[in-house]
Amino acid sequence: MITGPREGGGGGGEQQSVAAGPKETSPTPAISPAPPDELAREYGINTEVPEPTDFPDLHDGDDDDGGIESDGDSVFDENSINSETTSLNSSVIKYREEIGRRYHAYGTMEHWGPNDEHAQEQQDLSHHLWTLVLNGNLYLAPIRDPKSVLDLGTGTGIWAIDMADAHPQAVVKGIDLSPIQPSWIPPNLKFEIDDYNLEWLDKGKYDLIHGRELLGTVPNWVEFYRQVLSGLKPGGWFEQVDPTIFLVSNYGTLPPGHVFHQWSELMDEGGRKAGLDFNTAHHIKRWLEEVGFVNVTEVKMPIPVGSWPKDPRQREIGAFNQLRIEQGVLDFCGRRFTNNLGWSRVQLEVFCAAMRDAVRDSKLLAHHYAYFVYGQKPGNLGNE
Ligand SMILES: C[S@@+](CC[C@H](N)C(=O)[O-])C[C@H]1O[C@@H](n2cnc3c(N)ncnc32)[C@H](O)[C@@H]1O
Repeated sequence: MITGPREGGGGGGEQQSVAAGPKETSPTPAISPAPPDELAREYGINTEVPEPTDFPDLHDGDDDDGGIESDGDSVFDENSINSETTSLNSSVIKYREEIGRRYHAYGTMEHWGPNDEHAQEQQDLSHHLWTLVLNGNLYLAPIRDPKSVLDLGTGTGIWAIDMADAHPQAVVKGIDLSPIQPSWIPPNLKFEIDDYNLEWLDKGKYDLIHGRELLGTVPNWVEFYRQVLSGLKPGGWFEQVDPTIFLVSNYGTLPPGHVFHQWSELMDEGGRKAGLDFNTAHHIKRWLEEVGFVNVTEVKMPIPVGSWPKDPRQREIGAFNQLRIEQGVLDFCGRRFTNNLGWSRVQLEVFCAAMRDAVRDSKLLAHHYAYFVYGQKPGNLGNE
């Protein structure tokens, strides 16, 4: 197991390391790690901050923040990981409206993200980014043929749908606070409305549990990982993918006070004030080990913001990430800045406009990091 250096809150420019399991399509792997360079080559994963092109291609997106829209059809099961009796009562299907956006009503926590149509489009764009980053793979954990899969915080369910399609022999379940999943889904997939911060009743059930972009949603991560461990079969795997909130540059392009630095600090403060810290990705590996996971592996990747890298694939990743952040700025920060930092809606809109301008500026040569972390419950999977 090889680990990248810890991120202490935003510094760019560190030397990166990588460790990863083989592609899901390859034969069942040995757990012992291959040399990092070899693994990075195998996955086509970039672990170095890319070199910029001489001619940054500036993206001019528009600022549509969306509004309150119908969520269309959705399908969800009334059983849950923590309650056999969660019913489709009004708290599940009701929504809250804040700052002109639509939010979930069900659950123990106030999730930062809206669930309206604009937010759903943004999530689907993010899915494209993460699969691009993984060169078409859906996860890195070295499990080839999971039979029972759980996707935590499934959102629009796009990862779970792809997973169910790619593994027709598996039973896949996606859970979320919001009933925003489509009804046309593969037969081996179901969605449930559930809150993963409540006590789980599903014990020893899953071969693979997956969670992506869960940052800022859990008040006690160690307790959360204990529950994830209890939900896995012996030998089962958990994988989490979280980007960081710190937008940085290796090229001296972000002077002190830059809106990207303000963003990072405000998100950090807003998350902490809500008791739902955003700055947690660099702790995942340690927390997983603390609760008893083994073979815990962390892959830390720089993700460019904008189409500035010279390398064509990194340019494409950067362009998608730019669009994702530009569309998502208000989604990410709206609730935390208004409810936890006391901002007015006007202050919020002005700040988000400045952020979008900066995000569109590929000449800033900015990036952030994403952590892909996976670990195994001790034991052997009977079905491998
Ligand atoms: C940023 S979205 C990511 C969606 C999806 N994982 C993806 O990557 O496409 C985070 C999702 O987590 C869900 N969520 C947040 N807190 C939750 C909780 N306590 N229980 C279940 N879902 C939760 C939100 O409703 C939201 O859909």
